[in-house]
Amino acid sequence: MAFSKFQHLVLGAFFLMILPYAVAYDTLDPNGNITIKWDIMSWTPDGYVAVVTMTNFQMYRHIMSPGWTLGWVWAKKEVIWSMVGAQATDQGDCSKFKGNIPHCCKRNPTVVDLLPGVPYNQQIANCCKGGVVASRGQDPSSAVSAFQLSVGLAGTSNKTVRLPKNFTLLGPGPGYTCSQAKIVPSTIFLSADGRRKTQALMTWNVTCTYSQILASKNPTCCVSMSSFYNSTITNCPTCSCGCQNKNNCVTSASQIKSVVGMNSATGLTSPVLQCTEHMCPIRVHWHVKLNYKEYWRVKITIMNFNYEFNYTQWTLVAQHPNLNNVTQVFSFDYKPLIPYNSINDSGMFYGLKFFNDILMETGPDGNVQTELILQKDMNTFTFKEGWAFPRKIYFNGDECMMPSADQYPYLPNSANTNTLASAIVVPFLLLVLLAF
Ligand SMILES: *[C@@H]1O[C@H](CO)[C@@H](O)[C@H](O)[C@H]1NC(C)=O
Ligand SMILES: *[C@@H]1O[C@H](CO)[C@@H](O)[C@H](O)[C@H]1NC(C)=O
Ligand SMILES: *[C@@H]1O[C@H](CO)[C@@H](O)[C@H](O)[C@H]1NC(C)=O
Ligand SMILES: *[C@@H]1O[C@H](CO)[C@@H](O)[C@H](O)[C@H]1NC(C)=O
Ligand SMILES: *[C@@H]1O[C@H](CO)[C@@H](O)[C@H](O)[C@H]1NC(C)=O
Ligand SMILES: *[C@@H]1O[C@H](CO)[C@@H](O)[C@H](O)[C@H]1NC(C)=O
Ligand SMILES: *[C@@H]1O[C@H](CO)[C@@H](O)[C@H](O)[C@H]1NC(C)=O
Ligand SMILES: *[C@@H]1O[C@H](CO)[C@@H](O)[C@H](O)[C@H]1NC(C)=O
Repeated sequence: MAFSKFQHLVLGAFFLMILPYAVAYDTLDPNGNITIKWDIMSWTPDGYVAVVTMTNFQMYRHIMSPGWTLGWVWAKKEVIWSMVGAQATDQGDCSKFKGNIPHCCKRNPTVVDLLPGVPYNQQIANCCKGGVVASRGQDPSSAVSAFQLSVGLAGTSNKTVRLPKNFTLLGPGPGYTCSQAKIVPSTIFLSADGRRKTQALMTWNVTCTYSQILASKNPTCCVSMSSFYNSTITNCPTCSCGCQNKNNCVTSASQIKSVVGMNSATGLTSPVLQCTEHMCPIRVHWHVKLNYKEYWRVKITIMNFNYEFNYTQWTLVAQHPNLNNVTQVFSFDYKPLIPYNSINDSGMFYGLKFFNDILMETGPDGNVQTELILQKDMNTFTFKEGWAFPRKIYFNGDECMMPSADQYPYLPNSANTNTLASAIVVPFLLLVLLAF
């Protein structure tokens, strides 16, 4: 390689900063999306009754509390007579109606899920979870959310009905972009005993995909590193998730009240962040812990730097060439991700139910950790050149900021630092080339 060390660093830093945003889709979950399906179950004198089902096909990105918000724009003058399992947040102007008043008269309704515990007659299957939808990788049975609505002043046949337009999805923050609704083959439903098939009268789908750059200007997590063979601890890059100022963080829990007092003036939103050099709500630490003859051991710790915010159903994704030979994972669940049917170098970790599936607010309990044992492939395994550290880390589906390649802890007296940098930069270059 004819690159100078300086060029390595510049290139490395450039790609590490640009990469999360340059790719339009998620390289570790290329088919991930949230699909919203409208099934017309019956026609009514002035419209139809539809069941709307939202399915999260993303392997490791869930919708956490306070849940999803779905919006659209009606094609004509449709109204929502009633809803089951969800509600429009705003009724709008229904003054034209006498007697029977619709649930929502807005041209652009905004719908949210109901909270758990609503009476049975206001529920349908897969509703009423406060808008929380699991990722497909973690819990496919909870990766669905549904509601029913009765639409009036609408078409009353599959020739006259008009599809709603401009779907928007918050999950719960920004980041999703939705396609136009598209008529698809009508859904076929199977009865519980599997002995009778029924069919929707008409079905349309909308697909929403996530982009991290739309979700937030800055990363939301960062990675720090250490190893048994070098006492250096490589911290997260300074300002990984933004820089400190006197209004955007606190140094202790007792300080929160005073900052929250300032809140309305500064626009500081809760949860309140602990002041750190990196200013990330989440830090992932990768420690290369032990070397056995045929195996090696890594410890991963995830730390929460939010006061007053617990992460439920969190997920962590790591990319490392040795993840194809994970032998044992302690304290976390692990599932390999095989995005291109052949490359088995990434996987998702998530908490064990009722044990560590909630990452608590900052404090003594504000971390979760695992250790994993990997079997060495003697042809590729090395502690040199930062090989033992991850190529990418995602927390809750957002890619974390990594230290620059020249900062990785390296083997004492190991080969020169140039090869370290190129070992990191070359795969990134290839990835970028492949992505375009
Ligand atoms: C949405 O995800 C599903 C499951 O991965 C996939 O089959 C489908 O093709 C995706 N849809 C689009 C429009 O990408
Ligand atoms: C429509 O969405 C459903 C998921 O709700 C999916 O199973 C089906 O494949 C989608 N159809 C098309 C044509 O994308
Ligand atoms: C509309 O319904 C008729 C029968 O009611 C059916 O033959 C036709 O395929 C449907 N068209 C669409 C687009 O669903
Ligand atoms: C839908 O969104 C597009 C682009 O944002 C806008 O031009 C159009 O007017 C919107 N349509 C409706 C019906 O609001
Ligand atoms: C986080 O969880 C702990 C323990 O269950 C609880 O005491 C605390 O109130 C929770 N914090 C928030 C903001 O919900
Ligand atoms: C991928 O790696 C995991 C171990 O992390 C292994 O259990 C699985 O069999 C591998 N899958 C393939 C297709 O190689
Ligand atoms: C690592 O896993 C791959 C399959 O993913 C397998 O072919 C290979 O033999 C494994 N190597 C070792 C050292 O176990
Ligand atoms: C440990 O790694 C750092 C780079 O992070 C390097 O500067 C230092 O020289 C290494 N320590 C030893 C003893 O080689």
